[in-house]
Amino acid sequence: MSRPRILSGMRPTGALHLGNYMGALDNWVALQDRYECFFSIVDWHSLTTDYADPSAIRENVVEVATDWLAAGLDPERSTLFVQSLVPQHAELHLLLSMIVPVPWLERVPTYKEQQQNLEGKDLSTYGFLGYPLLQTADIVVYKADAVPVGEDQAPHIEIAREIVRRFNNLYGDVFPEPRTLLTEAKRIPGTDGRKMSKSYGNAIFLKDDPETVRQKLRPMVTDPARKRRTDPGDPDKCPVFDLHRAFSPVETREWAAAGCRTAGIGCLDCKATLAENLLERLADVHARRPALAARPDTVWDILLEGSKRARAVAEATMEDVRGAMKIRYS
Ligand code: TRP
Ligand code: SF4
Repeated sequence: MSRPRILSGMRPTGALHLGNYMGALDNWVALQDRYECFFSIVDWHSLTTDYADPSAIRENVVEVATDWLAAGLDPERSTLFVQSLVPQHAELHLLLSMIVPVPWLERVPTYKEQQQNLEGKDLSTYGFLGYPLLQTADIVVYKADAVPVGEDQAPHIEIAREIVRRFNNLYGDVFPEPRTLLTEAKRIPGTDGRKMSKSYGNAIFLKDDPETVRQKLRPMVTDPARKRRTDPGDPDKCPVFDLHRAFSPVETREWAAAGCRTAGIGCLDCKATLAENLLERLADVHARRPALAARPDTVWDILLEGSKRARAVAEATMEDVRGAMKIRYS
């Protein structure tokens, strides 16, 4: 019995933080038991927004891969690879570009949103418009059955399904329609209470050692009602409590919520307890990471080997695609 196949991707943004971990990576690690997994570091997608300064990409690829392996993605069971080392993604992107109506791409909500959010960058490019098409190629070149993603990516999987239907109608059934495997997203705020994000400078990274984690949590923003130790607070208004929800066992959450409401505990106690629970949760990641970080060549070897495996699968699909589109000449 072969297991259903999934593919997911991550842009090489550099060191991964708790938001990336809880929003994707930790879920991917668990999926390895039930699915045949392909996980891609999508460097071409980074170029769609960062084409003007690609200097960090190489370093970021190896940083992401190091965190993946530390988190427990297992190259023996899953194919871990770099998008640009599998040129079949680009070939399929080109062929799909022949059949995708431009308005489908213009309608994707992330298109105009991102153009507005990243106003300092000129995103009126052909490549940026094609972002979801490249993502479609990433998925279907492996004939993936499903794609684990967060809610924000759902429109991209929807357009992938539409493109698959159009392709299959025109040329015959080549691709399965990929399902969305929605990752339930817990709120992971950063230390300033906003969404955790590398660019906000509020992130706790997987590579932060225990002392750094404690240090970052100590000044974290809390419910502003608790100005003094004797003021009661509301855990539902506190970003520290959001992290308890994500990382602490239920008894600790109840202790923190009750102590907060009655001013029975101080915020520093609450944060110190969170820190210890978080560190326990990350213990395996922290244990694995230093040895990997010390051996970037080994990490690259794993990516090169995975990319080779990915190329073989992607090339087999491309033979079908070329045949279906009547451009297979050998
Ligand atoms: N767009 C995705 C993101 O920003 C990354 C991505 C690229 C991806 N290709 C993919 C995700 C294929 C799932 C499947 O998170
Ligand atoms: Fe937040 Fe905990 Fe302080 Fe309450 S006691 S405000 S939950 S840090």
